[in-house]
Amino acid sequence: MSDLINKKTQEVDAVITRYLPKEEGLASTVINAMNYSINVGGKRIRPMLMMETYRMFSGADGGETLGRFMAAIEMIHTYSLCHDDLPAMDNDDLRRGMPSTHAKFGEAMGILAGDALLNYAFEVAIGSFFANDRGTGAAAGPADRTVRIAKALSILAKKAGIYGMIAGQVADIEAEDKEPSEVTQQTIDFIHENKTAAMIESSLMIGATLAGADDEQILTMEQIGSDVGLAFQIRDDILDVTGGDALGKPIGSDERNGKATYVTLNGLDKAIDDVKKLTESAVSKLSQLPGSGNKSGKFLSELIESLAIRDR
Ligand code: IPE
Ligand code: IPE
Ligand code: MG
Ligand code: MG
Ligand code: MG
Repeated sequence: MSDLINKKTQEVDAVITRYLPKEEGLASTVINAMNYSINVGGKRIRPMLMMETYRMFSGADGGETLGRFMAAIEMIHTYSLCHDDLPAMDNDDLRRGMPSTHAKFGEAMGILAGDALLNYAFEVAIGSFFANDRGTGAAAGPADRTVRIAKALSILAKKAGIYGMIAGQVADIEAEDKEPSEVTQQTIDFIHENKTAAMIESSLMIGATLAGADDEQILTMEQIGSDVGLAFQIRDDILDVTGGDALGKPIGSDERNGKATYVTLNGLDKAIDDVKKLTESAVSKLSQLPGSGNKSGKFLSELIESLAIRDR
C-alpha cells in the first residue's frame, strides 16, 4: 500500500507543479516563498482524496479542471500552514522537515506568502472555466460543466472560510486563553470539525461534484470527510505528544502553547480508540457508494485506513 501511496503522491506533485507561479518580476520574493512552502513536500492528502474521489465516481482520470482544483486545495492548505506557524499563532519554526515559511523568509513574507497562496488558489481554480479538457466535461455538456465548476468553487471558498477552516483556527487560538475546565469536548469537536475536517470535506465534495455525483452522494462525501477529518486531527494531536523525527514539525507544540487537545481531554488510549472508530465509520459509509468497489474506491478506503496509523 505504501508504494501505491508514494506513486500517487508523485502523481499529485506533478499536477501541482503545473500550476505554480513563475518566480519572476518585482514580487519574486513572495513567489519564491509560496513555491518554497509548497515544494518542501507534505503528504498531499487533500488533492489525493479529491483525485481518487473524482475517479471513483466517474471511472475516468480527470483533466485540467480536476488538476486546477487539486492544486488550489493544496495551495489553500499550505497557506493555512504558513499562517498557523507564525509567531502570533503557534510560533513553530519547523514545517515539513524544513524551516517554516516565516522562519526562512521573515514574518512579513510569511504573512504575504500565505495571502498570496490563498488568492492564487482561486486564480488557478477559476481558470478551469476556460480549460479545454477532456476529463471533466467529457460526459457533461458545456452548461453542465459550468455548473459543476461553479458549485466546486463555492465549496472551495466556503469550507476554507468563516464557516470552515478559519472558524476552527479562531476557536483554537481563543481556547488557548481559557481555563482548562472551560475547554469542553464540544469546543474541541468544533475546533477539529472546522480547522481540519472542513478542508478534507471540501476535497471529497469537490471530487464528487466535478465527477457529476448527485446531491445525496455529495452529502455522504461530506459526512465521510467529517469522520476522516476528525480522525486526522485526533491523530495529529496524538503525534504532537508521541511523534518522532518523521513528523517533520516540532513535537510538544500544543503543550508549549497551552492548547487543550483531544489527548489532554481524553487521554492517549481513548484518542487512539476514537481514531479507529471514526475511520471505521468513514469506510463503512464509503462502501455504500457506487464506485466504491472499483480501483479508486478501494484505494480511498485503504488510504483512509492508513491515515489512522500514520506517523507523519
Ligand atoms: C497539517 O496537515 C495540519 C493539520 C490539519 C493537522 P497535514 O498533516 O496534512 O500536513 P502536510 O500537508 O502533510 O504537511
Ligand atoms: C492546524 O492545526 C490546522 C490548520 C488549519 C493549519 P495544528 O496547529 O494542530 O496543525 P500543525 O500540528 O501545526 O500541523
Ligand atoms: Mg494551530
Ligand atoms: Mg500548528
Ligand atoms: Mg497539531
